[in-house]
Amino acid sequence: MAQDPNNPDQKLIGLMAQFDDPDSLLAACEKVRKAGYTNTDAYTPFPLHGIDDALGIKPTILPWIVLALGLMGGSAGLALQYITNVEFYPFIISAKPLFSLPANIPVIFELTILHAAIAVFLGMLLLNRMPTFSNPLFRVPEFARATDDKFFLTVGVADEKFKPKKTRELFDSFIGQTAVIEVFDDPSSNEIPKVFKFVGIGVSVLALIPPLLLWRAYNDTATVPRINPIRDMDVQLRGDTQTVSHVFADGRTMRPRIAGTVARGEYVDPILLTGIVPEMDQQNVAFLQEEEPPKEEGEKPAEEANAEEDKPAEEPAAEEKPMEEKPAEDKPTEEAAAPAQPEEPEPNWVKIAPIEINMATLERGRNRYNIYCSVCHGLAGDGDGLVSQRALQRQEPTWVPPTNLHTDYLLTQPDGKIYNTITNGIRKMKGYADQIPTEDRWAIVTYVRALQKTRTGTPAEIPAVEMKELEIKGQ
Ligand code: HEC
Repeated sequence: MAQDPNNPDQKLIGLMAQFDDPDSLLAACEKVRKAGYTNTDAYTPFPLHGIDDALGIKPTILPWIVLALGLMGGSAGLALQYITNVEFYPFIISAKPLFSLPANIPVIFELTILHAAIAVFLGMLLLNRMPTFSNPLFRVPEFARATDDKFFLTVGVADEKFKPKKTRELFDSFIGQTAVIEVFDDPSSNEIPKVFKFVGIGVSVLALIPPLLLWRAYNDTATVPRINPIRDMDVQLRGDTQTVSHVFADGRTMRPRIAGTVARGEYVDPILLTGIVPEMDQQNVAFLQEEEPPKEEGEKPAEEANAEEDKPAEEPAAEEKPMEEKPAEDKPTEEAAAPAQPEEPEPNWVKIAPIEINMATLERGRNRYNIYCSVCHGLAGDGDGLVSQRALQRQEPTWVPPTNLHTDYLLTQPDGKIYNTITNGIRKMKGYADQIPTEDRWAIVTYVRALQKTRTGTPAEIPAVEMKELEIKGQ
């Protein structure tokens, strides 16, 4: 701007020449460049071809910045997907490879574009030193026509070659120049106006409200809905869980199941559920269940052992008995058989698992057995699971070794009884009804039977085809 007469301290920051036509400007630019000036700039109402060369302005480095950030975004997308899919969460989905480029192109592409776009936007602003609050040129009245019909060339004082007199002479010598104007520093303060500060502070404080609300929402334990303009069914007469009811005589809102009834769709065959054949069904089932011929030697001890073990299994109170009361010989041994009370009514255990027994059942049973039972009973059922080995190694005084599943009396035990052992537990072994679904418990029973067969089977029981295979392998 022209110097303010009231303000002699104003600093000269450059010289500006005004032209009426682009050709004069271009010629002047050439001249300035040849004179060695570098802190120069030209302002035109429309883009002027060749002006960059005339002024010696080097091409912007923005494209390189964009390229670099684009590549960075692309490789970040690639790395992100590779690391998550191959290193952190290597899930095989539909037998596809963990990583393949085509599938990951979209994210790579998107991240490349995202980073490049951000680089263009921010890079342009930064390289142009934006945002600038004011430009001293805007205070020069003539400069307003730079967007209309005049062309301007400036040289800054910061230029090494700038000499007030010599530069002035150069400017005066420009052909077609219509005015040479001295540009002075902007005298106005660089301070941000107070209003902006207050608005800024106000907006920052308001911006804290959403995160604070979120924080409250996370930490609030109130049961009432927070802000609830549309209340719909939130307010109504209803019984909430675990609350007192004024409707029912017993004061319970949650209604217990009515004894002797089964909810619709929840019927489960009682035999499947308990492994016990109900009294009235016994004749019917007798047809279905093939009676095993009683074994001469195995029969008697099994009966005795059963009678003894069933007692505690039947009454859950058995678990509450203090440990000392239970003799360690609780295990089915000769002595244990002695206090057995044959009068105890033995439930009518179902003889053979009431499920379809096939290879799939056995596989399922093996799978579940290895998970739930093998830790104690051992993978082969010998009662030498790792937990037991460790307990014995540490000489744990209260440890009761798991029963060997190949023990004689277990060979003749009905399937229903073993199922009951898994379901409700027996003496020191806890029940697994909560962890293992009914069907799986039966599957385990069939697998235990298969395990036992590995010791009791005879060559005659092996199908001819498989026998042949075995013979071939044996040779
Ligand atoms: C935490 C260890 C442990 C696990 C797991 C375990 N058991 Fe047992 N099991 C025992 C012990 C101990 C006994 C002997 C209990 C006693 O004599 O007090 C036993 C006894 C038994 C018996 C003999 C019952 C009888 O009539 O004498 C059978 C059958 C049995 N378990 C089957 C299973 C099956 C099937 C599983 C898997 C669902 C299983 N156990 C899981 C510890 C375990």
